[in-house]
Amino acid sequence: MKRHDHQHGAIAHVHLATLNGPDYGVIENGIIVWRNGHIVYVGNDRAAAEPYLQDIDTVIDGQGGWLTPALIDSHTHLVFAGNRAEEAEQRLRGASYADIAKAGGGILSSVRLTRNASEDALFAESLPRLQALLHDGVASVEIKSGYGLDCDSERKMLRVARRLGAETGMTVKTTYLAAHALPPEYAGRADDYIEAVCSWMPILQAEGLIDAVDVFCEGIGFSPSQSRRLFESARSLGLPVKAHADQLSDLGGAALVAEFSGLSADHVEYSSEDAVRRMATAGTVAVLLPGAFHVLRETQQPPIEAFRRHHVPMAVATDCNPGTAPLLSLRLAMALACTHFRLTPEEALRGATIHAARALGLHDRGTLAVGQRADFAVWDIRHPAELCYWLGGGLLRHLLLCGNDLNP
Ligand code: NIG
Ligand code: FE
Repeated sequence: MKRHDHQHGAIAHVHLATLNGPDYGVIENGIIVWRNGHIVYVGNDRAAAEPYLQDIDTVIDGQGGWLTPALIDSHTHLVFAGNRAEEAEQRLRGASYADIAKAGGGILSSVRLTRNASEDALFAESLPRLQALLHDGVASVEIKSGYGLDCDSERKMLRVARRLGAETGMTVKTTYLAAHALPPEYAGRADDYIEAVCSWMPILQAEGLIDAVDVFCEGIGFSPSQSRRLFESARSLGLPVKAHADQLSDLGGAALVAEFSGLSADHVEYSSEDAVRRMATAGTVAVLLPGAFHVLRETQQPPIEAFRRHHVPMAVATDCNPGTAPLLSLRLAMALACTHFRLTPEEALRGATIHAARALGLHDRGTLAVGQRADFAVWDIRHPAELCYWLGGGLLRHLLLCGNDLNP
């Protein structure tokens, strides 16, 4: 995609899904204007918009399509080396994800490959994955470490994540996930490993590499008390927390995140109603990852009705990773959330915009309102539900990052 500089600009002849108010917050035949990368007018009153249009050379023609906030992917592991297609084959022949992990494969096989890759090689392998998300409407993305599992390799991954943001112009939020799996050199010494992970945290934070801290709280990951230890370290450094929680069993991970007023609890298939209540009180977002659910052929549904009842915001993310979700389209994740979890297309869109922004602690994007960043996607569709209806296909007409139009 080429970048055109449009710090001041406008788009007309377009329907707007503002996501302010019910029914997508629709404004038909709308116009949206921005200055210095932020929205100054959104509505459908040409006369009211006129003063803002004075010094704008070209108003982009939306050609009767739909404009939404640009999509936000709030959970990815897209920096990694190699891939694990062979494990996917083993699973299809009957092995489980946990079996493969216990035999030293799974996350640890990506760790071996990632440790051995140079920073440049890792960057070159990861860039096309980020570009795939971009080409399907994503402007902001979270990227985790977690395939390094030693200080230098975690640093390498986080540096690559930062470079990916600089290269593409996308907003990248980095998450420190050294507590993803136990590396072989710490076999049988998980508590010691957690201490090491806590000791690397301030070093990498001082290098500007950590926006949040994550843990895989699970039987094949780390225990709730180890997760708590990690969260205490994060809190003492002022870093927000989140967790891979209650994915394969209910260890109380989501409730623990809520106790630390964390940004999000992710996966959450096995979360209890009590955990949901605690998340609501804490303002913790539930990040749904239907790609991993789909690939692992899981059957335990996340407690969607309870999230609705308690008004826990639900985000939808790709979880893009080489094991459980080799998924390169957030729109496809939205479609899977509708099919597998029975989200409505509107809930899925909110999950990939406003609720995803909240899961990343971003308050300047995710809806169309005055003051919000001019991060927009313009789609060649007749109704916003089509975003979750087409599986694949090139629906994106324009993607604007802070007012800059990347013409796909
Ligand atoms: O979100 N559950 C742990 N982490 C990833 C999978 C990572 C991998 O298998 O490489 C997940 O599903
Ligand atoms: Fe994940």
